[in-house]
Amino acid sequence: MQKEISLNSGYKVPVIGFGTWQAKPNVVGHAVEQAVVESGYHHIDCAAIYGNEKEIGEALQNIFYTGTKREELFITSKLWNTEHHPDNVEAACRQTLKDLQLDYLDLYLIHWGIPFKHGKLLKPLSKLGIALTESVPIYQTWAAMEKLVKKGLVKSIGVANFTVPMLMDLLTYAKIPPAMNQIELHPYNSQFELVKYCHRNNIAVTAYSPLGTPGGLEKGDPILLDDSTIKKIAKAHKKTPAQILLNWAVARNTIPIPKSTTPSRIQENIEIFDFELTSKETEAIDELNCYYRFVDPINFWGIPYFD
Ligand code: A2P
Repeated sequence: MQKEISLNSGYKVPVIGFGTWQAKPNVVGHAVEQAVVESGYHHIDCAAIYGNEKEIGEALQNIFYTGTKREELFITSKLWNTEHHPDNVEAACRQTLKDLQLDYLDLYLIHWGIPFKHGKLLKPLSKLGIALTESVPIYQTWAAMEKLVKKGLVKSIGVANFTVPMLMDLLTYAKIPPAMNQIELHPYNSQFELVKYCHRNNIAVTAYSPLGTPGGLEKGDPILLDDSTIKKIAKAHKKTPAQILLNWAVARNTIPIPKSTTPSRIQENIEIFDFELTSKETEAIDELNCYYRFVDPINFWGIPYFD
């Protein structure tokens, strides 16, 4: 059995998840099947905006056919920015359930705290390249998320990309507190204080881009997997740099969701529980923090979200 983390909703989430962001059509389904059936992942991270939930839904059917039960898996999805209005939340969730061919989600997250203009365009932009937004306060979206729990469509609800002030506000009115905050986390952006705040408030933390998102690098981005400190520690443990990064993430009580569609890496990324980093190694990794974000809305939606 893999380690699990208890959520404030009473459910448990496996400490490593299988990421599906940037997983391409025609390969993602097979990757999910391999991850669950051959490599033993029990936690799959999805989102409507990734555009691959239908294919993952077919893969899940194949997985259930092999004997894995629905309740053995922890499946997350996310409400896209165009669907924040309370009138749209349930329909968006039901569409995801239909695509994934599921009766319920284990966890449903508000993907970003930015309500986009509702419509066919998933990323509506002005001529200046700035996201077109709509006046929907998060408290209204959250109340609609809470209704999904009451209706049995989702077991737990949470957020992604939320900062401390956003969480502080949410916690003042939430009847169901967020069970999770999914954020960009890796040694170049460790977000120590945000992680501490979440844990203090009983909000679990999922780490996206735990490998420094090497498949989606822009010009000038650093390559975390090539970092000399990480490589040196990997050599000492006879592990790969990716395994060091994932072990570090789990050791700090966060839940990494590495994405891979390469069979050997899918396997490699779950073989991280048979060694421990020394406190010196952990310190050395902690010192790599340089507040570097690979994912920042200022770059693609013109919104200084994290400023
Ligand atoms: P691929 O899917 O071709 O295997 P992140 O989860 O940080 O966004 O990283 C995902 C990216 O990292 C993908 O491009 C994936 O490539 C690559 N990747 C996943 N696992 C490993 C690994 N163990 N070693 C090197 N690269 C990896």
